[in-house]
Amino acid sequence: MLNRINQLKLGDAMSEAVSNHSGVLHLGMVFADALRMRDAYTRLHSDRVMALSHGIGLDIGLTRQELDALELGACLHDIGKIVVPDAVLMKPSKLNDEEFAIMQTHPSVGANLIEVYEHEDAKRIADIVRYHHEWFDGSGYPGHLVGEAIPLLSRIVTVVDNYDAMAVRRVYQEARPHDEILRIMESESGSKLDPELFQRFVKVIHDPRYAEFKAS
Ligand SMILES: [Fe+2]
Repeated sequence: MLNRINQLKLGDAMSEAVSNHSGVLHLGMVFADALRMRDAYTRLHSDRVMALSHGIGLDIGLTRQELDALELGACLHDIGKIVVPDAVLMKPSKLNDEEFAIMQTHPSVGANLIEVYEHEDAKRIADIVRYHHEWFDGSGYPGHLVGEAIPLLSRIVTVVDNYDAMAVRRVYQEARPHDEILRIMESESGSKLDPELFQRFVKVIHDPRYAEFKAS
């Protein structure tokens, strides 16, 4: 099958760049910058999810290559929101069913974007993005995957994503304090969240090195 990069006629230099590990990481950072420019909340959220996911990755002893993919996947997890209309993405109130359906396309859209690059790193990063809204009990989306069928790196991002989403004030939602967030997450451990990774997260978020990411 022809490489999609060639189909897009992006030139030999770029084709060569994405054929190796550092090239995939570099282009991932280009995507991340594009996302940063879209909206300030998504930018800050992505940066925090990246840092805390990396902390869990270190704690469970991931390889260097897995950590690189985890960092980038965490940073890019919401990249698919690039195609979500502003009226939905920045709506200052709860989404209706139709708007929520649009919002639910963002994991697949983001993963498809990254999978254009036919490289094992890109596949690993795309999987993080595609499955970051899967829940441990199978009630998430888009694949309704259950437990360890959800890629490990995705399960890490899901835990951190949930914490940070509650830690930050949005137009339609007040920020919750740290202890309350942990109580909510504990009640969702085993249903929404991987219980073992939740425990790892608790350890990381109480580590002084990650104090800046802790809710007040
Ligand atoms: Fe998301």
